[in-house]
Amino acid sequence: MSFWARPGVALRRAEVSDGETLSALHTSAFQRGWSDAEFESLLVQHGVNALLADYRGRLGRRAPAGFILYRITDEEAEILSVGVAPDYRRKGVGRQLLEEALRHVYREGVRDIHLEVEDSNQAAIALYRDAEFRESGRRTGYYTQGREKPGSALVMQRQLR
Ligand SMILES: CC(C)(COP(=O)(O)OP(=O)(O)OC[C@H]1O[C@@H](n2cnc3c(N)ncnc32)[C@H](O)[C@@H]1OP(=O)(O)O)[C@@H](O)C(=O)NCCC(=O)NCCS
Repeated sequence: MSFWARPGVALRRAEVSDGETLSALHTSAFQRGWSDAEFESLLVQHGVNALLADYRGRLGRRAPAGFILYRITDEEAEILSVGVAPDYRRKGVGRQLLEEALRHVYREGVRDIHLEVEDSNQAAIALYRDAEFRESGRRTGYYTQGREKPGSALVMQRQLR
């Protein structure tokens, strides 16, 4: 690798042994972190997959920057979580993770992929719209944890074939 390597993102499939890295990324991206054990118990489930993004800076140093977690069930898939650490946002990490997950589920024969996102989460909604997801429903009072007033979720969907 060249010393003055161009900054960029490298993606890889996460293994069960990546629970600690995923947990640290989740904690940095969300108010409530998921533990190593929660990630490990998800990753052993049939159809659950995760991708990790390493960000390589100008000096060639790599750091875990983001993840995406998704579940494939026959011809459907669901994005369970996606997060990018604050220092690495707006560098295309989230978009690359989402595009690679979409390529993977397409290869697996998936027809429809859906997700839930809080209706106030403008960054995530913009990311999903950019990736051709469209709103297909709304769930009121969906987000309750640690809140006085529950938040509503948008259901977003993309048809792949
Ligand atoms: C949502 C999130 C994953 C986006 O990751 P990211 O790596 O910063 O996104 P990218 O740089 O790949 O952006 C891709 C596109 O998404 C949209 N976008 C991303 N962040 C945005 C923001 N803060 N405001 C508006 N649009 C935004 C833009 O369309 C952007 O394209 P552009 O940079 O060419 O304008 C990141 O903000 C995050 O981790 N947020 C906290 C966790 C979270 O809310 N996850 C989603 C739960 S459903």
